[in-house]
Amino acid sequence: MIKLEDNLGRRFEKLRISLLNECNFSCVYCVSEDFGSISPKSIQKPTADQPLAPDEFIKLIEAVHRLTGLKSVRLTGGEPLLHSNLFYLIKHIQKIGISDIRLTTNAYFLKERASRLFDAGVKSINISVDAIDQDIFSEISRHPNTAKVFQGIEAAVKAGMNVKLNAVIMRGKNDSQIIPLLDYAAGLGVKIRFLELMKMGHLYHSESGLFFSEKEMLAVIQEKYTIEPVKREHAETSNYWRTSGGGTFGIIANESTPFCHDCNRLRMDSNGIFYGCLSNAHGEKLSPYIHDDVLLTEKLRGLLRLKQPVKFHGSELSMRNIGG
Ligand code: 5AD
Ligand code: SF4
Repeated sequence: MIKLEDNLGRRFEKLRISLLNECNFSCVYCVSEDFGSISPKSIQKPTADQPLAPDEFIKLIEAVHRLTGLKSVRLTGGEPLLHSNLFYLIKHIQKIGISDIRLTTNAYFLKERASRLFDAGVKSINISVDAIDQDIFSEISRHPNTAKVFQGIEAAVKAGMNVKLNAVIMRGKNDSQIIPLLDYAAGLGVKIRFLELMKMGHLYHSESGLFFSEKEMLAVIQEKYTIEPVKREHAETSNYWRTSGGGTFGIIANESTPFCHDCNRLRMDSNGIFYGCLSNAHGEKLSPYIHDDVLLTEKLRGLLRLKQPVKFHGSELSMRNIGG
């Protein structure tokens, strides 16, 4: 293996793959108003491109793994549970030698798949849940039935998965949900992470007034609980705290507390285009180089150079295309 490391000591250790850009939700922070909702049946493609075939995904992951020694792969979307060959992909990623396979999902289709996923080797799962109040959650996700999300979460816990909940907090939309979400997670015995809104995709050029800072989130929580910080692990995207209520929560504060300095992530979209940084919309198609380690190394080095030195700025990339 060649040493692929930048001057801050950053390497690519985690690969996030957006398997498809379709989603049955249309969360306001991810999809613009005019986009509408995509149902899995009436597929309306946000881009003209076809997603890669499963074996093309596998070949690309194999080549990148050969050069970087990936520690884990996270499957995202869009909504990864809508991918028809999900279990085939999981099996073949394991065959390459990557056993740590994780998933980020909206959990709508999780209830019926949780234990099969666990048995297939998905031991960790991140689930987006932006409100406990169903009306607020429906308004954010633009989906009428958010009750299924909670059934999915509970099925994942029951299946034995390590579950983490993610909530993007927006002023005036769901800042009232911080405590209910925190208490729900503590009751289930799972961690929850609150995210500052990132200027991605349609939000890149806007000043929406929805931004709710880490400091404000901490103030809301401290009105009810005393909190103590937990030591941050290397390349963690969030800082964690324990509360006097017995819960553990994190805050992913891209704006207030950037974590670019030890970012170890590489991203691939559903068309096989790789991105070194969320704050840089430049992507590289790596398929022409998978049999040429010298050229592939050069391309990966180029992607590593795209990482920001300190601070996240956002980009025109949509999270639906490149995964959260
Ligand atoms: N800001 C913050 N988080 C976002 N996500 C998607 N878009 C944004 C955004 N603009 C995250 C959500 C979701 C994951 C798939 O991506 O947390 O859980
Ligand atoms: Fe779908 Fe996730 Fe985007 Fe929401 S944030 S619309 S669940 S891809």
